[in-house]
Amino acid sequence: MELPVNKGIINIAILLSIVLITGTIIRLNYPALQQKSSSSVSTYFYNAADDMNQVGCDIFTGEWVPDPDAPYYTNKTCWAIHEHQNCMKYGRPDSDFIKWKWKPDDCDLPAFNPFHFLHLLRDKSMAFVGDSVGRNQMQSMICLLSKVEYPIDDSPTSDEQFKRWKYANYNFTLEYFRSPFLVRSEERDSDGPTHTGLFNLYLDEFDESWTSHIDSVDYLVLNTGHWFTRPAVYYENRRVVGCHFCQLPNTADLHIAYAYRRAFRTAFGAVNSRRSFGGVTFLRTFAPSHFEGGLWNEGGDCVRRRPFRSNETILEGVNLDLYMIELEEFRAAEKEGKKRWRLIDTTQAMLLRPDGHPSKYGHWPNQNVTLYNDCVHWCLPGPIDNWAQMLQHMIMLVAPKDYLSQIHSHKKMQ
Ligand SMILES: *[C@@H]1O[C@H](CO)[C@@H](O)[C@H](O)[C@H]1NC(C)=O
Ligand SMILES: *[C@@H]1O[C@H](CO)[C@@H](O)[C@H](O)[C@H]1NC(C)=O
Ligand SMILES: *[C@@H]1O[C@H](CO)[C@@H](O)[C@H](O)[C@H]1NC(C)=O
Ligand SMILES: *[C@@H]1O[C@H](CO)[C@@H](O)[C@H](O)[C@H]1NC(C)=O
Repeated sequence: MELPVNKGIINIAILLSIVLITGTIIRLNYPALQQKSSSSVSTYFYNAADDMNQVGCDIFTGEWVPDPDAPYYTNKTCWAIHEHQNCMKYGRPDSDFIKWKWKPDDCDLPAFNPFHFLHLLRDKSMAFVGDSVGRNQMQSMICLLSKVEYPIDDSPTSDEQFKRWKYANYNFTLEYFRSPFLVRSEERDSDGPTHTGLFNLYLDEFDESWTSHIDSVDYLVLNTGHWFTRPAVYYENRRVVGCHFCQLPNTADLHIAYAYRRAFRTAFGAVNSRRSFGGVTFLRTFAPSHFEGGLWNEGGDCVRRRPFRSNETILEGVNLDLYMIELEEFRAAEKEGKKRWRLIDTTQAMLLRPDGHPSKYGHWPNQNVTLYNDCVHWCLPGPIDNWAQMLQHMIMLVAPKDYLSQIHSHKKMQ
């Protein structure tokens, strides 16, 4: 009853304008890859139109353009900003990095509308599963939604690896499962060969801390990536098959691509084999880090103050490898035809944002933290806020039927 007719009409107008904007089928190739002439790459062209049932504009290819309306929240209006991403608190001197928005080449991404978004998610549940960049995204979303409502903490325990929030007025449940590799893992040695810890990765084993809790989830948002660069021992069938930089005797060094591919296969297999899971799974693709002048633990930093234009940089090296593996394994999982799969391809957009990370403004200067210059996570507010728009758009594409019938039934009630 709380949905007045005029709001319903506005919402239908939003829906129609999206349909109109995206009505043309545009077949676009991934721009960063277009510039590569290597034939091994050309077979991997990503066609976003395919992901959107042929009704979508490719929202993942574009440029960052000035956004005079940003920011949409500050650290004073939103309490959900994680300490290490509260860059203004820790003295980041510039704020231009906040004032950009993602503009797809061939359409406009509708602005994030917290009322509209919560309306889409009424009586639904969404779970973010992955590493702290996934948590970063979730906290950005909570801040953007805070204009309408704050969720209440409904977590069953004080364990920070699993959080549950409830939007009381919308009966919308939001969950976070920390699973940095998406497969079962454990820390084997907290110091390890590089003082950054050594992990055991069970590449063929589900991480049941999330896989056994997704039955009631309507929208599952998966991500992983950064942790695979850490030293790790790889297991299959409970036996060591190799490792990444573990420096243990008689253990073959394997490229992280090996583990990355197998981990995706296992995680996607877990979703596809989960009989009661009927939701949509979004894979939010890898967001590259931007260390320059050294690796993350060797003094590398991210000091740029402007986004790149798309012609100024290119996805390459390990980033390109990891991205390709994600896409290939995603396609394979989708092809099984058992569940609904969608890509949220943030890779290109985030490749262009070397200016959006905390760098040394994620803590006080004299604090002894592992990631001193953080060029992995994203300041809040900041460029990661644009992921909410992408998510909103994607949910619109998968939920329009539910959505229209809801508007319809609300109208009938009046
Ligand atoms: C918010 O940022 C300002 C600087 O812009 C800082 O002085 C303040 O301590 C921060 N507040 C919180 C609650 O993080
Ligand atoms: C809240 O949503 C759940 C589904 O997530 C549904 O089963 C339940 O009936 C809803 N509760 C109310 C009060 O509508
Ligand atoms: C990138 O494109 C912009 C606008 O089209 C142009 O002004 C600029 O010179 C280009 N930069 C490079 C490095 O090609
Ligand atoms: C920083 O902390 C680590 C462990 O927490 C310790 O081993 C190291 O000596 C500390 N470094 C400094 C400079 O205090």
